[in-house]
Amino acid sequence: MADEQFSLFNAGNGATDGANADPSATDFDAIPTTGSVPIPPGIYPDLEILGTHCRGCQRCDLAATRTNVVVSRGSPTAPVLIIGEGPGQQEDEQGLPFVGKSGQLLEKILESVRFNTETDVYICNIVKCRPPENRVPTTAEVAACKGYLLEQIRLVDPKIILLTGATALKALLGVKLGISKVRGQWMEWDGRLCMPIFHPAYLLRNPSRDKGSPKWLMWQDIQAVKAKVDELTGG
Ligand code: URA
Repeated sequence: MADEQFSLFNAGNGATDGANADPSATDFDAIPTTGSVPIPPGIYPDLEILGTHCRGCQRCDLAATRTNVVVSRGSPTAPVLIIGEGPGQQEDEQGLPFVGKSGQLLEKILESVRFNTETDVYICNIVKCRPPENRVPTTAEVAACKGYLLEQIRLVDPKIILLTGATALKALLGVKLGISKVRGQWMEWDGRLCMPIFHPAYLLRNPSRDKGSPKWLMWQDIQAVKAKVDELTGG
């Protein structure tokens, strides 16, 4: 790999927390700032250092328009890892995923089956910076950011991954099917159990609770997820 493809992440640049992370604990030289060069798998010793690097990221054009990098919220040892598409305005302003209207609905969905959103789930996105006007992230943006997601999955090591919406499903599993066709189906990816579910924003646009409606289907799906987590964790 050409030397010019590599340069240092400046951990001091844009890092707002995770400041106690020991930068010497990982090989900064090995992390490419060019989005087309993948982040080496296994490079991050922990989520704190990942967060520090991610907050200084310049791997794609979204860095120029973001307010904050949105890395994650929830528990780093959660049994359930939830993946959204990308930060919206509220998330960009607060630096946390799913804190706007979609996030409030996601909280209600999780609480409906007594998932504790601080201990039972780890929430992140396919891309960590807001796409302008909330557009769908481009293939290049997804590729530039994917290494962070793969490292988050490796380090959290969840029992179950929930993919909210078609963008998350396509970006992680490469499945290009509409979400209505596949939601609620258990899938395997990299030896891990995954389920595609509706994106909360879609549920906000489809408020009916009638039998067979998207909200009703989500209720079936989240109950199946809860039952599986209880089965796998003895909960
Ligand atoms: N939608 C997403 O996909 N992710 C967020 O963090 C917020 C809204």
